[in-house]
Amino acid sequence: MTKRYGDAAKGVDALGGVDLRIAAGDLVGIVGPSGSGKSTMLQMLGALDHPTSGRVLFDGTDLAAMGDAALTAVRRDEIGFVFQQFNLIPTLGAIDNVEVALVPAGAPAAERRERAAAALESVGLGHRSYHLPSELSGGEQQRVAIARALVGGPRVLLADEPTGNLDSATGEDVMELLSRLNGEDGHTVILVTHDESIASRMDRVVALRDGAVVHDVRPRRASAPFGP
Ligand SMILES: Nc1ncnc2c1ncn2[C@@H]1O[C@H](COP(=O)(O)OP(=O)(O)O)[C@@H](O)[C@H]1O
Ligand SMILES: [Mg+2]
Repeated sequence: MTKRYGDAAKGVDALGGVDLRIAAGDLVGIVGPSGSGKSTMLQMLGALDHPTSGRVLFDGTDLAAMGDAALTAVRRDEIGFVFQQFNLIPTLGAIDNVEVALVPAGAPAAERRERAAAALESVGLGHRSYHLPSELSGGEQQRVAIARALVGGPRVLLADEPTGNLDSATGEDVMELLSRLNGEDGHTVILVTHDESIASRMDRVVALRDGAVVHDVRPRRASAPFGP
């Protein structure tokens, strides 16, 4: 796929012909310098935006060819997003921040509450349910954001520099949580990171430079190139 922002004459080629297949259940790191197209790639994978050319297939279906209703359902039910800035609603407590993710699906209020409570529990924050974001540490806020991404039961979690605003010890906790969600719960996790030590613990690392894949390796298998 390619992605160009702006028009043909003055646009920016953010991705210039990326061909990737990501296996269900994988833990994938996307690395590369600032401006190399990492966030753009995550947005394409998460159907937040469509490529300029080429396709993104989700379970074999071209995301750009889906109708609006089907696309909304994929975004809502299959994919969870986590951002560097947490993006929590400052006036809502932790449990309400998680619950808002369930409103579009139209679940009854009692069920929403129950599922939000379970999601907070699963990230170890059951005891912080009624704290506002401002009353939580950065790591706790990111865990609330992860609970929000998880509460709808997605198979895929996409995280754009999820530890970028955290000190290294707190970032480590968040990474352990994401690894556990991958290893124990079987979520496919794709995360953008600048942190080499995080990247080295991924199943697979895809390195971008100027919108192209320059490395694609499985670090824990002695740097063997990723094959089909
Ligand atoms: N919405 C946008 N409009 C125009 N250019 C953009 C937009 N988003 C990203 N870009 C450009 O696309 C390139 C890749 O950006 P991005 O995917 O954000 O890189 P990264 O996440 O690796 O820092 C950069 O040159 C950036 O300036
Ligand atoms: Mg980025």
